[in-house]
Amino acid sequence: MWCILVSVLLLGVLRAPVLAYPPYARGKDYAWVLNSTDANNGISYLGSHTRLRMAVDKMKDGKLMKVATLGGSITAGQGAVDAPNWPQYLFNWLEDTYGKEVVKGSNGAVGGTVSGYMSVCHNMHVPKDVDIVLVEYSVNDWHSPAPTFQNNIRRGYERLLRKLLKYPNNPAVILVHTYVWSQAYPFAGSFWSNAEREFHEFALYYHLPSLSLKACCYQKMVAGEPGFQPHPVRNTNQDGLKYKAFYWDNIHPDGATGARVIAELVMNLVRRTYAELDVQPLTEEEAASPSLKLPAPMIPGNVESISDKCFIGNFFTETVKEKPKGWEWINESLTERPKWGYVSTVVGSILKMVIDTRATASQSNGKDSEVLVELAYLKSYEKMGKAEVKCGGDCSCKASVIDGHHGIRNSQLHLHNFYVTQGSNCIITLKVLAESSSGHNKVKVAGLMISEESGEHEGIRNHMAVEYVHDISQRSKDGTFEVNNHAR
Ligand SMILES: *[C@@H]1O[C@H](CO)[C@@H](O)[C@H](O)[C@H]1NC(C)=O
Ligand SMILES: *[C@@H]1O[C@H](CO)[C@@H](O)[C@H](O)[C@H]1NC(C)=O
Repeated sequence: MWCILVSVLLLGVLRAPVLAYPPYARGKDYAWVLNSTDANNGISYLGSHTRLRMAVDKMKDGKLMKVATLGGSITAGQGAVDAPNWPQYLFNWLEDTYGKEVVKGSNGAVGGTVSGYMSVCHNMHVPKDVDIVLVEYSVNDWHSPAPTFQNNIRRGYERLLRKLLKYPNNPAVILVHTYVWSQAYPFAGSFWSNAEREFHEFALYYHLPSLSLKACCYQKMVAGEPGFQPHPVRNTNQDGLKYKAFYWDNIHPDGATGARVIAELVMNLVRRTYAELDVQPLTEEEAASPSLKLPAPMIPGNVESISDKCFIGNFFTETVKEKPKGWEWINESLTERPKWGYVSTVVGSILKMVIDTRATASQSNGKDSEVLVELAYLKSYEKMGKAEVKCGGDCSCKASVIDGHHGIRNSQLHLHNFYVTQGSNCIITLKVLAESSSGHNKVKVAGLMISEESGEHEGIRNHMAVEYVHDISQRSKDGTFEVNNHAR
């Protein structure tokens, strides 16, 4: 009798193996969620991956390999509530596998931003000596802006890629395509879904290794495998759906599952490249190969600027060449979060900011066409005044006024947008005015951004992101923004 019972139990176990989700623990024996077939299917373009081979070879040689991640909220870690976000899984694994001394990761992603922001402000988010940059915008950038490619959105994206490729170490730029089941176009779960398709053209053109979540795992989602179920999302039943649901909410992969899978796509690419270098070492010819030179832009005339265009955080002080009378660079914070800026309460005092407003993209119709400048200034409900904005040096603009006073009981940076003609030595002046809506004259400014294209332009128009990056970047030594500095 018991014999039959045992064999029935045994048969049950053999027939229906329980698909357990591998537990996460740091260390040399990392348990992979993806097997090699699935992980390799997630490589949607590999090409010669020369730059990646160079970066990994450096690490193999015992030198520091710097890895940076850029993107929106998925990369910044939303949805990773009780587990690491995907960049953190990646950085942990790299350290545990190859050694802390040869790997340094930094996460420069900012939720709610599109590549257009990063194209202007990359200098705030990427360490100059980076070796690998992972770029995640397939979800946040609009899926089909018109006319195809010849639009602000795709032009900005291409310039971001070009600028990153030109960083001093010739970094490997790798596209990371995530996928949001519930927001796929034109219906939830649609396979053809987001900007990945158009981004792929850039991968082919610039030979950028690319990783695709849907190429790896779409069928696992359809089949509802544990950890890959696209719905319901986990925050509807946190305990019951842990290690089952792929997403935490309708957009963001769950840290326990989805974020780990995205990280594994990158980990697999590094693992393969490392092993490949054993059998096929990097040659001198390869390291000096012409693929390090950039071709002309894929979108005709879409040349990136060489000068920095984003001055927020400590970078803002670089635009102020002479010590301004009546203005002070101060941290006005009442909380833990830094709140730096140039502040004046003295009527008539002038702040001069020197910037290069030359546009490079061919959309500029001649040297006299104007570019958009965005000035970040504080709006608050107490003691705030007005200032006049003018242009001098080798550029000009229509004079305008910023008013720091508003009736709402909050204090936030806002963006003042104005158009300026192009010049290499453009001087923006700000003069505190006697007139005021509050009876007081305090003016505070914290940043300047310059668009790279002339003419009507979207600009950054994201004052929340600008304020966040401005504040948090003050916490790092080199002045760049890093997600992990946020929590302090
Ligand atoms: C990996 O898993 C897939 C199913 O997701 C399966 O088809 C494939 O054979 C497996 N590959 C290996 C190497 O085990
Ligand atoms: C700014 O001031 C706040 C409040 O005094 C403080 O907590 C913070 O550390 C300061 N930040 C910097 C970067 O000095």
